[in-house]
Amino acid sequence: MLLSLGWVTALVAGIFAIHIGQKLCFPYFWKDVFYLVRVIRYGLRMEMYKVTSNVCTVLDRFIQQAAQIPHKAFIIYEGISYTYRDIDDRSNKVAQVFEKLGTVKKGDTVALLMNNEPDFVCVWFGLNKLGCSVAFLNTNIKSRSLLHCFNCCGAKILVVGKDLLETLVDILPSLQEDNIQVWVMGKESLHPGVQTLLDKVEEAPGLPIPAERRAATSLKTHTLYIFTSGTTGLPKAAVITHLQSLKAAAGFWAYGGTCDDVVYIPLPLYHSAASLIGIGGTLHIGATCILKKKFSASQFWIDCKKYNVTIFQYIGELCRYLCNQPKAEGEKEHKVRMGVGNGLRQDVWREFHRRFGEIRMCELYGSTEGNLCFMNHIGKIGAVGRSNFFYRLIFKYDLVKYDMVKDEPVRNAQGFCERVQKGETGLLLSRVSSRTPFFGYAGSKHLTEKKLFRDVFVKGDMYVNTGDLMVEDHEDFICFRDRVGDTFRWKGENVATTEVTEILGLVDFIQEANVYGVQIPGNEGRAGMAAVIVRPGCMFDGKKLFEHALRDLPSYARPLFIRIQESMEMTGTFKQQKFQLVESGFNPSKISDPLYFLDNAEKCYVPLTSAIYDRILSGQQKL
Ligand SMILES: *[C@@H]1O[C@H](CO)[C@@H](O)[C@H](O)[C@H]1NC(C)=O
Repeated sequence: MLLSLGWVTALVAGIFAIHIGQKLCFPYFWKDVFYLVRVIRYGLRMEMYKVTSNVCTVLDRFIQQAAQIPHKAFIIYEGISYTYRDIDDRSNKVAQVFEKLGTVKKGDTVALLMNNEPDFVCVWFGLNKLGCSVAFLNTNIKSRSLLHCFNCCGAKILVVGKDLLETLVDILPSLQEDNIQVWVMGKESLHPGVQTLLDKVEEAPGLPIPAERRAATSLKTHTLYIFTSGTTGLPKAAVITHLQSLKAAAGFWAYGGTCDDVVYIPLPLYHSAASLIGIGGTLHIGATCILKKKFSASQFWIDCKKYNVTIFQYIGELCRYLCNQPKAEGEKEHKVRMGVGNGLRQDVWREFHRRFGEIRMCELYGSTEGNLCFMNHIGKIGAVGRSNFFYRLIFKYDLVKYDMVKDEPVRNAQGFCERVQKGETGLLLSRVSSRTPFFGYAGSKHLTEKKLFRDVFVKGDMYVNTGDLMVEDHEDFICFRDRVGDTFRWKGENVATTEVTEILGLVDFIQEANVYGVQIPGNEGRAGMAAVIVRPGCMFDGKKLFEHALRDLPSYARPLFIRIQESMEMTGTFKQQKFQLVESGFNPSKISDPLYFLDNAEKCYVPLTSAIYDRILSGQQKL
């Protein structure tokens, strides 16, 4: 008896010691294992789809859920609850309307321009049920760029939300010239040639469309196009295949989400975060989501308490706005346990925890079109992801040395890139292979090719250039440092410098423009700034430039600052020199060139005085 008791004690002590040792040496061991098991389970499922040529798509999953949990709330929007069956029925009706007209066939693309509302999802699913791809259009895109979107994805039909029809008025004739049918999600239309959809949907039978219409035999079949800002001046359509949409829909699940979760989606559905991860992720786990038309910082916690929200989606800016709200009683009394998103900065992260409690913040890294993703499943502050031996077996990525001045990766004497050491910042490249394919952009081989680097480490290899500078620390955490190249982020949107440059170049008194992003303390991302040369014999006209920017650029892409220069510096490879301009910022007391600031109240670019500069730095000036 004694002996056996001793044995048990020894065993318990041993396990305890192992547990402590493991905690000290590998503090993230169990979390890593839990996460890896999910990654591997997911990977096996994908492999099975490949072998059997029978893909269970996100839509298939939705239809399964609608059969299994028909009465469960799927989307709650403006206080009204829509069950899985409601959305299934209504999307059947949308499909039936188009089916009856016979205007679309399997493989066609239909464009969708809508703000967040349940019908966004119904139209998306309805068209997918017919085997059509859907192209999500960014509702901020200005008409000039919008026309181009139809060309790149080949859409011949546009479904537009009732509240957005007015923004299309000036391009309606051009759309008709191009034979693009416009359907408004309303019951009446005042514009000739615009057809109404809502009345027909309400009358249509809710009968399901036969499953073979939506059936997918390959993970590589296109299902969506999501527009991201382009580098040649116009938006480009990232191809979303079933592989990518399935991967994104597994996001909440990989973080441990279950059917008891309530997900809060305040981000726009035309971005992959809200649509693929938010809606896709909610239905994957059979949960409920609270869909918001727009994010409101003052409403956020009220909603979370009212609906017992457990998971919310964020971008870094959103958490900062929440922290900037006046303090209230009982800020930690809520059920939110997890945030999933991207771009949370360390200072905001800490403040967020301090104010609102220990909510696990799960950073997720991965571009819409990219073939790589990182997840910070540990919740370590400041990291976007975590790597380890197994992860590297699945995803092949590397960080290489980058020359900030020349704005390109360093190539050695043999012409190859060089990996950085642990702890050093490098450009993130992700290898293209059959397991991690890169689908690029619709309608443009050239744009796809521009994202690729060849002969990186050996002759014949191929990598996607993410354009992001990252660092991997000694604990295998991956942290974001900066974005390089032709784009920067502002207010949660990508800004393509070349797009802005092109638009500024259309102003008659501007001879040349060089657009870049500058950091403003207390703000995420970078604010747009343009160095311009004024045409000889012309004068800078702040009013005219303001009106031009207002008309042709979405609000987030309008340069906040203008710097007038005499001449423009070029790099050795005849690219515009940006590095020094970025470094020198926008401080009027340090820069001798005339500077201007976009003043929305004055509706004009006004001289940037020290007083304005101080107001910007102290956060008093609205940007
Ligand atoms: C939220 O949870 C509380 C307590 O668990 C419950 O009484 C309430 O009905 C829930 N509210 C909703 C909208 O589910």
